[in-house]
Amino acid sequence: MKILVTGGAGFIGSNVCDAFAAAGHEVLALDNLSSGRRENLSPGIRLIEADLRDAGVASILKKERPALVSHHAAQIAVRKSVADPAYDAELNLIAMLRLLEGCVAAGVGKVLFSSSGGAGYGEQETFPAPETHPIHPVSPYGVSKAAGELYLGYYFAQYRLPYVALRYANVYGPRQDPHGEAGVVAIFA
Ligand SMILES: NC(=O)c1ccc[n+]([C@@H]2O[C@H](COP(=O)([O-])OP(=O)(O)OC[C@H]3O[C@@H](n4cnc5c(N)ncnc54)[C@H](O)[C@@H]3O)[C@@H](O)[C@H]2O)c1
Repeated sequence: MKILVTGGAGFIGSNVCDAFAAAGHEVLALDNLSSGRRENLSPGIRLIEADLRDAGVASILKKERPALVSHHAAQIAVRKSVADPAYDAELNLIAMLRLLEGCVAAGVGKVLFSSSGGAGYGEQETFPAPETHPIHPVSPYGVSKAAGELYLGYYFAQYRLPYVALRYANVYGPRQDPHGEAGVVAIFA
């Protein structure tokens, strides 16, 4: 099937692109290359250089008609979200809503969302946190990720747009920026 990965030139997105391609799918990466890199994309993965905040994303979806959208583009820094919550929400919520509206209009069959475990659970009550752990985000980033999950629930209720929200923890591996705050495992290693 045809799969569009937002943030596909980034650390996690590019690895996800590779996994989809290895499974035999046609993969498109949509990325503005703000932190992602063209070199992260393996041969055969097409890059659509675009900003998720632009209204043109809906027409990209209509033209490409992917069967699945794997959504990874985001404002990813907790500290930045505290310094500028509106900037965080512009990308992690407003742009995500435009993407979801575009998915509905283009007949996308399913959305995968890179949510967050730790940022959503906040100050954890139990370790390790089960999926049923209460959501108590204590940063704007955690709020925007938790709200993203709620909006996906709305799009399923309203339009029957199927979704899976994956609550990533501290991801580590090839192509990671070891200096970012999400790079805790790489930094400790
Ligand atoms: N790294 C982790 O441990 C972790 C944990 C939980 C959730 N996540 C989530 O996983 C996703 C990917 O994170 P990552 O660590 O790979 O970060 P990353 O910075 O490597 O990837 C983000 C990608 O999105 C692109 N992007 C940013 N703003 C954009 C915009 N306006 N339009 C188009 N593209 C844009 C960047 O260029 C980059 O390629 C994010 O949604 C993040 O919140 C990551």
